[in-house]
Amino acid sequence: MRAQPVSAAMLGSWADAMTRELDQLLGGAGAALEPLRECRAEVVAGFDALRGLGGGGLAIRVHGDYHLGQALRTDTGWTVLDFEGEPALGVPERRALSSPLRDVAGLLRSLDYAAAAALMERTEPDPERLEALRRQGDAWAEANRRLFWGAYLARVGDHPLLPGSAEDTLALRRAWELRKAVYEVGYELGHRPDWVGLPLRFLLDGGRS
Ligand SMILES: Nc1ncnc2c1ncn2[C@@H]1O[C@H](COP(=O)(O)OP(=O)(O)O)[C@@H](O)[C@H]1O
Ligand SMILES: [Mg+2]
Repeated sequence: MRAQPVSAAMLGSWADAMTRELDQLLGGAGAALEPLRECRAEVVAGFDALRGLGGGGLAIRVHGDYHLGQALRTDTGWTVLDFEGEPALGVPERRALSSPLRDVAGLLRSLDYAAAAALMERTEPDPERLEALRRQGDAWAEANRRLFWGAYLARVGDHPLLPGSAEDTLALRRAWELRKAVYEVGYELGHRPDWVGLPLRFLLDGGRS
């Protein structure tokens, strides 16, 4: 399948799907979801921003489950693994053309996860020390998110892969990051409830805009 310009209809259907996924999540029971229920409107506003974009760049085949764990550092550079896509989706959805920023969002989110996982898995819960370590972790994640994003934009240059304006590009990235964090909340509630605070923190923070 060849790359296609992202149409207004495509942007609208992404916003619809993202909002539907959020509402499916919020339809479930659980006190952990209460703070997210309260800021639903802000998250939805991030999805709705797609509807007003002047353009969305190109839609291409995407990895679909791109994160740090899917990249191996080898002697000759980075190798990307595991192209089976997002496990929860059906095959047609995994094959559908989508925004390259969907994968970029996955990688950006996983930088947050890397910092938080180091704390969750490797440290004793000493509250005072934990707070200082959390700040360091946040600073590490933020610095790496910025570096990755800057390098990505520099590499793309003025190729039509991305929307024509920096503002639209950021709005597109933000929508996919919010969507990924919504997915993560559902995943954590199902698999590791202790970790649900991690994506929630990002969403309650307004997606770190
Ligand atoms: N060729 C390889 N050499 C070294 N490690 C690998 C290789 N392929 C996979 N791995 C390791 O196995 C992990 C799981 O592989 P992956 O293809 O991502 O499968 P899945 O995530 O579906 O279980 C990777 O994150 C990586 O650490
Ligand atoms: Mg994998």
